[in-house]
Amino acid sequence: MAGFVEKPEPIEVPGLTHLHTGKVRDLYRNEAGELVMVATDRISVYDWVLPTEIPDKGRILTQLSLWWFGRLTDLVPNHVISTDLPAGAPADWEGRTLVCTPLEMIPVECVARGFLTGSGLAEYNETRTVCGLALPEGLVDGSELPGAIFTPATKAEVGDHDENVSYEEVARVVGAETAALLRRTTLDVYARALEVARDRGIILADTKFEFGFDGDRLVLADEVLTSDSSRFWPAEEWEPGHAQPSYDKQYVRDWLTSPTSGWDKNGQLPPPELPKEVVEATRAKYVEAYERLTGISWT
Ligand SMILES: Nc1ncnc2c1ncn2[C@@H]1O[C@H](COP(=O)(O)OP(=O)(O)OP(=O)(O)O)[C@@H](O)[C@H]1O
Ligand SMILES: [Mg+2]
Repeated sequence: MAGFVEKPEPIEVPGLTHLHTGKVRDLYRNEAGELVMVATDRISVYDWVLPTEIPDKGRILTQLSLWWFGRLTDLVPNHVISTDLPAGAPADWEGRTLVCTPLEMIPVECVARGFLTGSGLAEYNETRTVCGLALPEGLVDGSELPGAIFTPATKAEVGDHDENVSYEEVARVVGAETAALLRRTTLDVYARALEVARDRGIILADTKFEFGFDGDRLVLADEVLTSDSSRFWPAEEWEPGHAQPSYDKQYVRDWLTSPTSGWDKNGQLPPPELPKEVVEATRAKYVEAYERLTGISWT
């Protein structure tokens, strides 16, 4: 079981057409035909969108994403047109709303990994490969890879896991030329971000990008290099051989799987509301990631 514990109703704004309620973002189209992407405070863990929101999460991740877009413009164009609030939109959309170029999205989650963990580690343990790429013996959870690798996945419906696929499969779906462009751009952007984060004491273990076409121009879309799309590890605590502390959702995962929550991750019931302390500690982690990466104080 997975999905929304409570699926929110779209907000009605004159001049905006609701397109889609994503796990964390709501999409609208404005009268100019542009995409209006509104990040909410929703959090998804274990494939569930929880019934409890994390205050400011939408704003923090939107600002972090914008900060990164600004550091990548020489590598790839991005979809952001403006941060102006659409006329008539609720005031609390401020800071978490992006007006974007609507793109022909490429149905591939473009993941770059410089470190082994998660689904990459699971595949490695079975076959010594990740997305079919052969890796050396002896790697463990959290190991740095000999070089960053492109490990694409197919986008799953809400409540399903994304599925890792081989590069050949990507080439089959999008064509050889686009596949090569996706791989090159993903690895270029990852290399830049890895360096920027490392300077700030954060290991960018892996990250996911989404790209789309504006005509024949490849454009970086969605959100980039946020705690929702990336694994950030505090560099000083990095120690291969076990799961690394995750920057953001660790408190939530720990609490949900603890006896106090009364919830069974493998059972049929949706997860419960989070207690206040867990919400506060999680919010503090999002703030910390933002502040450490950007060097800008959140408040
Ligand atoms: N410029 C763009 N043009 C069109 N679609 C975009 C653009 N940027 C991002 N998207 C899409 O907007 C959606 C963002 O929603 P969100 O990330 O909350 O949902 P999700 O759970 O990842 O995906 P889903 O849409 O399957 O629910 C994603 O489907 C993403 O592919
Ligand atoms: Mg998404």
